[in-house]
Amino acid sequence: MVTRTRASDLTSSPLAFDHQATTPCAAEVVEAMEPYWCEQWGNPSSRQHRLGLSAAAAVSLARRQLAECLAVEPERVVFTSGATEANNLALLGHARARRRSGDRPGHLISVVTEHHAVLDPLHQLQREGFQLTLLKPGPDGLISPDDLRDAITADTVMVSVMAANNEIGVLQPLAELSAICRQRGITVHSDAAQAFGHIPLDPDALGLDLVSLSAHKLYGPKGIGALVIRPGIDLTPLQWGGGQEQGLRPGTLPAPLIVGFAAAARLTVAERDARSARLQELRDHLLRGLEEQLPQILLNGAQAPRLAHNLNISVPGVNGNRLHRALRPELTCSSGSACSNGSPSHVLQALGRSRQLAEASLRLSLGRSTTEQDVEQAIRVITQAVRALTP
Ligand SMILES: Cc1ncc(COP(=O)(O)O)c(C=O)c1O
Repeated sequence: MVTRTRASDLTSSPLAFDHQATTPCAAEVVEAMEPYWCEQWGNPSSRQHRLGLSAAAAVSLARRQLAECLAVEPERVVFTSGATEANNLALLGHARARRRSGDRPGHLISVVTEHHAVLDPLHQLQREGFQLTLLKPGPDGLISPDDLRDAITADTVMVSVMAANNEIGVLQPLAELSAICRQRGITVHSDAAQAFGHIPLDPDALGLDLVSLSAHKLYGPKGIGALVIRPGIDLTPLQWGGGQEQGLRPGTLPAPLIVGFAAAARLTVAERDARSARLQELRDHLLRGLEEQLPQILLNGAQAPRLAHNLNISVPGVNGNRLHRALRPELTCSSGSACSNGSPSHVLQALGRSRQLAEASLRLSLGRSTTEQDVEQAIRVITQAVRALTP
């Protein structure tokens, strides 16, 4: 008897291998947020009545809990709408605060493989007169401390290097890079959207002055993030209003999202080591399985140090669009970042991959719910699609 798979079976629950684009809210997170939508719906800035005070207390507790996960004081946490806004506040806010004389506003250093949420504000600063140097990583995706040392000039005011890459998962040597900057009084910012909750993240131990975070990458709600600021780091606000968040990010605080962010941080940090060990095993199994079936595939980025839940491969000789179309009904994955507007990955091209290999790339990111069966099935689905498209 032939059993047919209905299209709806395939589209309703494809294998989820795109946890770096976003994650589902954990049940514990939804539960923690629940009272703050309809019952305790006060504005945390309304200090004259109970409703407001109870929302303020919830925000205050969440701030403390989040700060505890990062081993920093709660006053250093400024809530934003996500990592994009945190990056903009850190980069635009600090560079503008440090602006020097009109003709030499200062020099900024970052890396070509950063997320657009870092690159685009940096390009805006360039239009405002700042000089910008973008370091190129090696073929493994890692930047060399010597390259950073060589790029620093007397005018360098800030260096921005992401903790974990959103496409290839590689972990930059942040402690080493920040030590170079701190000796020279240069501010260090890190976009840790992909790192927080997934690897240990202690801003002070790493020597970071500004750290951007996002809740939806760690099983929290979308639309909330934070910038963690070392005391004494000057920032010019990007917007003006009610004075919330020390005047750095005015606007009514979204109490339910903030409570959800803290719950997600506590949950993911508590289970981090066990989850990472399990996902690393599954991820390595996925790579081995794919390499056995498709020996032509290429691993993008260093195998280590790398996020345990990230795998990124390119498939030579196959059209990227057709590959993704073939996989779509059964497997959710991406090529490059969810924010790349469909253009071939600037990250993979910076590593020296051709346009074809950048297009025919698969970012496979595992999550809390990924099982061994999911991995086995992903190996089968990818193998079948690649074989069908290989001339
Ligand atoms: C490294 C990195 N930075 C920033 C962002 C943007 O974060 P958010 O969606 O919270 O603005 C993302 C998400 O795709 C990311 O991966």
